[in-house]
Amino acid sequence: KTCILIGAPVDSGKRRRGCLMGPDSYRTAGLRETLVDLGHDVVDQGNLAPRPFKDDHPDHPLFALNETIAWTQSLADAAETAMSEGVPIFLGGDHALSAGTVSGVAAHAAKQGSPQFVLWLDAHSDFHTPLSSDSGNLHGTPVAYFSGADGFDGFPEVAHPVLQTNICIIGLRSVDEAERKALEASDIHRHDMREIDESGIAKPLAAFLKRVQQANGQLHVSLDVDFLDPDVAPAVGTTVPGGATVREAHLVMEMLHDSGLVTSMDLVELNPFLDDRGRTAKVMVDLAASAFGRRIFDRRTRSY
Ligand code: ARG
Ligand code: MN
Ligand code: MN
Ligand code: MN
Repeated sequence: KTCILIGAPVDSGKRRRGCLMGPDSYRTAGLRETLVDLGHDVVDQGNLAPRPFKDDHPDHPLFALNETIAWTQSLADAAETAMSEGVPIFLGGDHALSAGTVSGVAAHAAKQGSPQFVLWLDAHSDFHTPLSSDSGNLHGTPVAYFSGADGFDGFPEVAHPVLQTNICIIGLRSVDEAERKALEASDIHRHDMREIDESGIAKPLAAFLKRVQQANGQLHVSLDVDFLDPDVAPAVGTTVPGGATVREAHLVMEMLHDSGLVTSMDLVELNPFLDDRGRTAKVMVDLAASAFGRRIFDRRTRSY
């Protein structure tokens, strides 16, 4: 299947700017070449733009609401279209972009008659609604949006919400009180860092992948840079200490590749303005490589 790179320079999901440079940072770090070296056909569609949008009301509590709605519209369309052409890889952009990408791929799944699953790799649950968010930052809300929560006035209707039981979040270590309550009342599978420390990261992932396989589902993977520990991935606005190691993250990606189940992916929250000589972009490209088949003894882009 063809890998379709789609730049999504969304920077409206929070106040700190810089994620708009993410797509070009992945390109500079060699994402396309890396996937080609692994034997894939790769098409880079360039960067998307939001639909036209109006200025926000000056004292609206949500930051850049209209821009984020406009991105959700264009991304949902692009995602649904790309699903019939190959495996889209969305180059973010902040996590607000997943409101569009996930609702778009889920619309495609519904037309195929297969259930949509989502693996959310993140320090945060991003399960606020516009009503519960204290920050007003919409990058903290996409999971609530695509699973069909109320409170998203002005956003496109979610015609095919992802079932809570088809969502698995791994990496949690920063969850606001309102999100924690909502998560505990939900059927979302959620795995915090304590669980990973106690039982290892492979166990909850394997259980989830088994469910995807048994249901013959489509699997969307959303990888937030802050899933990783900030020591190895500093280029993100919302660093939280105690994140996944490079090794844990590669294991996740290798298991995803071995499963053969991944149908779409987001790489989100990279803020190149905060990077250290491109190292976070490079780690993310290496992780994508593992997800698309790179193996030990098959490091064709490296030399010894
Ligand atoms: N829960 C916090 C908020 O609502 C942080 C969200 C961070 N989300 C992210 N995609 N990095 O503002
Ligand atoms: Mn996130
Ligand atoms: Mn996060
Ligand atoms: Mn579980």
